[in-house]
Amino acid sequence: MEVTIERILPGGLGLAHAEGQTIMVALAAPGDRLRVRIDRVKGNVAFALIEEILTPSPHRVEPPCPYFGRCGGCDFQQMTYQAQLEAKSEIIRDCLRRLARIENIPDFQINAAPNPWHYRSRAQWQYDAVRQKLGYFESGSRQVCDVAECAVLAPELQNTLESLRTRMQQGSLRGSARDFRAVVGDDGISIAPPLNGKLADITRTIRGEAYRLNAESFFQANDGLVPQLIETAVAEATGETALELYCGVGLFTLPLARRFKSVIGVESDAAAVSFARESLANAGLKTAEVVNRDVGIWLEDVKRGDLSRLSEKSAAALRGPIDFVLLDPPRTGAESRVIAGVLGLEPQRISYVSCDPATLARDLKKLLAGGYALRSLAAFDMFPQTHHVEVVAHLESNS
Ligand SMILES: C[S@@+](CC[C@H](N)C(=O)[O-])C[C@H]1O[C@@H](n2cnc3c(N)ncnc32)[C@H](O)[C@@H]1O
Repeated sequence: MEVTIERILPGGLGLAHAEGQTIMVALAAPGDRLRVRIDRVKGNVAFALIEEILTPSPHRVEPPCPYFGRCGGCDFQQMTYQAQLEAKSEIIRDCLRRLARIENIPDFQINAAPNPWHYRSRAQWQYDAVRQKLGYFESGSRQVCDVAECAVLAPELQNTLESLRTRMQQGSLRGSARDFRAVVGDDGISIAPPLNGKLADITRTIRGEAYRLNAESFFQANDGLVPQLIETAVAEATGETALELYCGVGLFTLPLARRFKSVIGVESDAAAVSFARESLANAGLKTAEVVNRDVGIWLEDVKRGDLSRLSEKSAAALRGPIDFVLLDPPRTGAESRVIAGVLGLEPQRISYVSCDPATLARDLKKLLAGGYALRSLAAFDMFPQTHHVEVVAHLESNS
């Protein structure tokens, strides 16, 4: 079947229509004329693979990585970097229009990564001890694609991958491990599971703030854009009381603690909470407190008036007006009860940091219906060569 790719959809597939069917094509570029083979059909959508590029899109380039197409890690290498940025902006607009039903989407910029290659300072590699493979899952499968050199890894992590590979070849890599995670710090690299001894805690300094973490912590993966992401997320935030939901190891908590009299962070991962508290203490920041609790449950506690997990000072702050809520949930977005809980607190401003425009749009729809206006948007290309994109949405109360 022959198709022309109209545009790139959320999820990264190319959209085409032919023979009365909607067709989604992997690894396509907008404008490509392709011969495709239908791989599977779901409802009224056919998913197809490229058999032949009949006329390449003007935005098409030769993917430089030898594993491209087999490795499930990157799905945008076939496009120029400019085309990747445009596709991501269109994906964001598409989600906001279709899923959030926003008519007047504010103009927004997508911040390009300073390095579209070799940017990843945190990575996870799959390990198949039986077949002696180390790399990433193949696309659409749980088979490990054996990757000797990865074009998006920071040089330090490429070295780490190589040393793990050497150990694998020498038979000294732990056979029971399913995967390895690694993160770069100012003071070395943390690898989980540790190769010998204890999991190493490291420090990463960003905008002058020193964050403690290790390879099991969530941390933003693209150093080149993190300072701008922080600046944008907390940009207009000042006042008495701020709430930060899904605060991780405290990436935004430290900058917020410098701007507000009282900051309450909420995070379910106990290790991340310890790191956030350690970094706040090291910085001498006493204005912030981090609660180890599921965000949805904690907001329900608060709604019932149960503030027992907070210090007297934070409990008193929470009884007063909330100036600012920052939320940065995982890819699945915020649960309905979290959105309901945030609305119940009636903050003046909300900053929603998201790594999935679809769940962001779903949650924005509820926040807009709950009395907030979308004031501005900013996008950050934290993950060049993939369809993933980070978005910050600023909302303000209509009342
Ligand atoms: C996208 S990360 C953001 C972390 C932090 N803001 C950062 O940028 O480093 C999401 C965080 O939410 C935490 N998390 C996930 N589900 C949660 C829940 N239901 N309640 C509280 N925290 C949760 C994860 O452990 C993770 O640290």
